[in-house]
Amino acid sequence: MRAAILTLSDKGSRGERVDESGPALAAWLAERGVGTVQSRIIADEFGQIVEVLTEWADADAADLILTTGGTGVSPRDITPEATLQVVERVIPGLGELMRIKSLEKTPMASLSRAVAGIRNQSLIINLPGSPRAALENLEAVWPTIGHAVEKIRGGQEDCGGRFSK
Ligand code: MTE
Repeated sequence: MRAAILTLSDKGSRGERVDESGPALAAWLAERGVGTVQSRIIADEFGQIVEVLTEWADADAADLILTTGGTGVSPRDITPEATLQVVERVIPGLGELMRIKSLEKTPMASLSRAVAGIRNQSLIINLPGSPRAALENLEAVWPTIGHAVEKIRGGQEDCGGRFSK
């Protein structure tokens, strides 16, 4: 699996803050054998986010595209809106799963408006901005990712109860 990581941060894009979340996600993925083939940091600008996500997905640059940051309720938090503009199909369950699992850790998880969906053959998932929150959210959906990527790419394997307890 190939991953790409897009960090959304006004301060980070101006060099006023070091991006800790992007590298933390890449390290976490590397521990699980997933290489990060693209990573970028840009400002919380709707047009730029749409542009980069579209470019990566249409070029089939990665199977999994993670964004980190901009999922909250501040005026500049527009990652979910930009992502919804990009994806062709939404996967509501991934956002639900991230919030259900995260609510076990903090009620603040309800403030993340993260969404997930598919464009071309890429699975795009929003994660919150702090390294800890980003990793906790990725961990929450991780058990589904391998199967999702396989299915998005047309995998014919029958699910038929394979994943039930
Ligand atoms: N989810 C987990 N698992 N752990 C956290 O600490 N922080 C929350 C939430 N989700 C958090 C979390 C907080 S405080 C906010 S404001 C939202 O994510 C949105 O974060 P963002 O604006 O950095 O994307």
